[in-house]
Amino acid sequence: MTSEIRITPSILNADFSKLQSEIQKIASVSDLLHLDIMDNIFVPNFTFDFDKASEIISQSSLPVDSHLMVADADAIAVQYAEAGSASVTFHVEAARDIRATISSIKRHGARASIALKPATKIDDYLEFLDAVDMVLIMTVEPGFGGQKFMAHMMEKVTKTRKLIGDRPIWIQVDGGISLETIEIAREAGADTFVAGSAVFNSPEPAEMVNKLRQLASSI
Ligand code: DX5
Ligand code: ZN
Repeated sequence: MTSEIRITPSILNADFSKLQSEIQKIASVSDLLHLDIMDNIFVPNFTFDFDKASEIISQSSLPVDSHLMVADADAIAVQYAEAGSASVTFHVEAARDIRATISSIKRHGARASIALKPATKIDDYLEFLDAVDMVLIMTVEPGFGGQKFMAHMMEKVTKTRKLIGDRPIWIQVDGGISLETIEIAREAGADTFVAGSAVFNSPEPAEMVNKLRQLASSI
């Protein structure tokens, strides 16, 4: 495979009390910052309210990829685009009008992406592949960092890669990406990798990002 690799560290496992310095640790070696937004409704966990998230987005030296794990994605996705996210990812399971939500994200200048929980099939969302910039295939149940990578999701990644064909749509995987799993995900067809605990639990976060990139690029 020759397409570009992107490493997008998630700050879910970083120290929330000093986020800017945590972001600085990986800024020069990462492509995007993955910001996990959880509302304690769509998932049983809460991260940031909109004001705090907007502050992170506007202060981040890296472009921000906002991963919305929230109910009522239709209304919230556009707010995250307006707040300056480079990319907004919402869950198809949480949206009423997927096409309109994609359009409103794009209208505000952000890349639009749909996310699929492990039990959600790509087959039911094929009609949106003409509109999205990225598909996020969850490799854990959304809600928490540090979970085990679901290797059986690779079938969905491979299938999505085939369905995308030569369209310039990125495939992101999120959950359990580490030195042990990134090659498997790359082999299956992913090109954009979220890594939370692997990066921020490492004593050398930037070095870990480089190692992950190196492994993914070797495929
Ligand atoms: C989980 C989040 C992930 C999480 C990944 O619901 O969407 O982005 O931070 O963390 P790790 O890499 O530890 O699985
Ligand atoms: Zn995420």
